[in-house]
Parts: sequence; structure tokens; C-alpha cells
Amino acid sequence: MMNRWLIYTRPDWPFNWFFNQYYENGTNPRYFTFQIVFNLLSQRKENPVIIETGSQWLEKGDGSSTTIFCEYISRYGGKLISIDINPNTIKTVKEWTSGYQADKEFIASDSVAYLEKYQGPVDLIYLDSFHYSMDDGPNLQERRLESQEHNLKEFKAIEKQLSPSTIILLDDNFLPGGGKPTLTKDYLEQKGYICLLDFHQSIWIKEI
Ligand SMILES: C[S@@+](CC[C@H](N)C(=O)[O-])C[C@H]1O[C@@H](n2cnc3c(N)ncnc32)[C@H](O)[C@@H]1O
Repeated sequence: MMNRWLIYTRPDWPFNWFFNQYYENGTNPRYFTFQIVFNLLSQRKENPVIIETGSQWLEKGDGSSTTIFCEYISRYGGKLISIDINPNTIKTVKEWTSGYQADKEFIASDSVAYLEKYQGPVDLIYLDSFHYSMDDGPNLQERRLESQEHNLKEFKAIEKQLSPSTIILLDDNFLPGGGKPTLTKDYLEQKGYICLLDFHQSIWIKEI
């Protein structure tokens, strides 16, 4: 169902709630990809199930993904499952998002372990967990590889639950060394997925 308050079709483009809060004068590198994802999601699925790995760890700034997903769901319906290995992050993100009337479930677990056991549907999978190092300390390449391998393991763990219309959103793309989703993107390409926008986040889909 097309929602004109979410999707820009009018002469007052591009003013909507998401733009108003997250465009940040064009400086937010995640604005464009989140906006595309929400436009797609709202046209494809009523009450979507959104799963994210790596819950919001800062109250403001960085990705703010959990707050953004909760606001989407509070406006349009759906369910969020947010997974983080750190119980303190789970505790704080629960507090930060407590004001949203949204169906949300917070899971303190390793993401791969949880996704391997997950048996429900998923309409949007957002992978943003294992830290991708940007320091110049020792073993940088190995640490980055560990993050990239974890990202691919997450995707493979949830792959069995995806439908052809599931949207895949990968964070921390285009960083030095390729970023978090480098191996996952290679895998998606081999599997015939289509990339819709490769920016600071990368959006993939099986069927247009
Ligand atoms: C970059 S932050 C997530 C940021 C968040 N998506 C946002 O937009 O604000 C990464 C999170 O992943 C979590 N994490 C690290 N390794 C993990 C793992 N193996 N399983 C689940 N979560 C993990 C960390 O505890 C941290 O909170």
C-alpha cells in the first residue's frame, strides 16, 4: 500500500518524518539507503518483520537504527527483532525505545547463534553487529576479516528464512579495507541477488 507521507511523490518532496529527522542537511550517509528501504518495504509488505543484528549503542548519532525501526513500526505496523551480544546494550536500547508503541523483541545473544535457530519470516534483515576496526593497531587486517566473516555467517544463518522479496541492508560498507559486508556482497552476487544502492549501507534484493 503506497503511503504518500512516507514516499516522496508530491511537489513538496522530500519532506516527510524520516527526512525531517534524519536527512541532517545531507550529511547523514545512511539517510538515502534507509529512505529507499522504507519506500520499498512499505510498498511490498504490510506489518513487516524487521530483524537487526547489532542494536543501537548510542542514544543519538551513529546509525540510531533501533529507534528508526521502532518509529517506522509505530507508524505503519510490523515487528522488530533486535539482537545484540551485549546485555547492557540491550538494557539501554530497551529504555531508549520504550516510548514507541511498537511490537519489539530484544534478544541478548550472539547474532549467528540466534539467526541459525530463527524459524519465522523476515522482510528486512539489517546486518550491523561485529565491530569493524578503523584504528591502526596491530593485526588490523585479521580483525577486519573477522568482522567480514561474521557478517557473512550472519547472512548464511538467516538465508533459509528469506523470501524473494526480503530486503537485505548491510551497514559499514565502503570503509577502508572494504568494510563489514565485503564477503557478504560477493556471496550475494554469486547467488544472483541484485544490488539497489551501494553506499555507506548496501541494499540487496532477490527480486525487483
Ligand atoms: C555498530 S554497533 C550497532 C549500531 C546500531 N546498529 C546503530 O545503528 O546504532 C555494533 C553492535 O554489535 C554488537 N555485537 C558485536 N558482536 C556481536 C555478535 N557476535 N552478535 C551480536 N551482536 C554483536 C555490539 O555489542 C554492538 O552493540
